[in-house]
Amino acid sequence: MDHHHHEEKRRVWITGASSGIGYALAERMAGQGDNVSISARSADKLNELASASGNIDAFPLDVSVREDVHKTIDAIEAQAPIDVAILNAGAWALMDADQMDVAKIRTGLEVNYMGVIYAIEKLIPLMRERGGGHIAIMASVAGFRGLPRSMAYGPTKAALINLAETLKPELEQFGIHVSVINPGFVDTPATRDNPFPMPDLITADEAARYIAEGIDKQKVEIIFPWRFALIMKLLRILPNRPFYWAMRRIMGR
Ligand SMILES: NC(=O)c1ccc[n+]([C@@H]2O[C@H](COP(=O)([O-])OP(=O)(O)OC[C@H]3O[C@@H](n4cnc5c(N)ncnc54)[C@H](OP(=O)(O)O)[C@@H]3O)[C@@H](O)[C@H]2O)c1
Repeated sequence: MDHHHHEEKRRVWITGASSGIGYALAERMAGQGDNVSISARSADKLNELASASGNIDAFPLDVSVREDVHKTIDAIEAQAPIDVAILNAGAWALMDADQMDVAKIRTGLEVNYMGVIYAIEKLIPLMRERGGGHIAIMASVAGFRGLPRSMAYGPTKAALINLAETLKPELEQFGIHVSVINPGFVDTPATRDNPFPMPDLITADEAARYIAEGIDKQKVEIIFPWRFALIMKLLRILPNRPFYWAMRRIMGR
């Protein structure tokens, strides 16, 4: 293991840490000596993870409830300032355009996008006052272009990628770093039942290693695994004609 030890303990806040990528990331960062505050709705899972490590504290939370997000940040900051916020909580749903479920679309928007907005609303003034901090936003390569059956998910990730681009030059004047995380397919409870092939699927532990290293290097974009990332980068710049041809192929037409 290439665990990196820091001179000073950082305070890291990870949302969506009750399972999948967030859980693996909390374990990894606590293992490398960071103080990790973890949030999600499942208090039992958070407490279990926290009780297994002296470096982890649980702060149960629904990120789509603005007042709760603000209160949670206050509670964490009462212990120590948040140096790194990893806004990872997210909801995934497959949806066909002729079988729309507007409630699910709204949940996606409220958790994936507004959840991040509520957190940065509170964090930006705090970090600005301290003259430093790091905000990492979990997006996805699925936000690069519109993908079939992704109407409840892709648009929220596209919004987050755009948001991170907006924030980066503004916040760097205050010494605040912004990272956007764009993973390919990661094996987690969210993706386990996907009815389509997932090329270059990696484990949550592998994803956590890419993310932890990217954050240490203060990378602007943390994107992995490299081969699938390259395919998605190419898809992003592909002209419409070949893009839609490829999408028809994916849909089996
Ligand atoms: N897996 C992939 O292939 C992949 C690829 C690209 C990006 N991502 C992104 O990575 C992030 C983590 O996903 P994952 O694959 O690790 O999925 P996961 O295992 O389902 O984890 C999602 C996490 O978000 C939390 N969460 C969901 N709704 C929440 C809410 N309203 N308030 C607070 N926490 C909430 C869940 O905890 P509770 O249910 O306990 O609240 C859970 O801890 C997501 O943003 C996802 O979009 C995943």
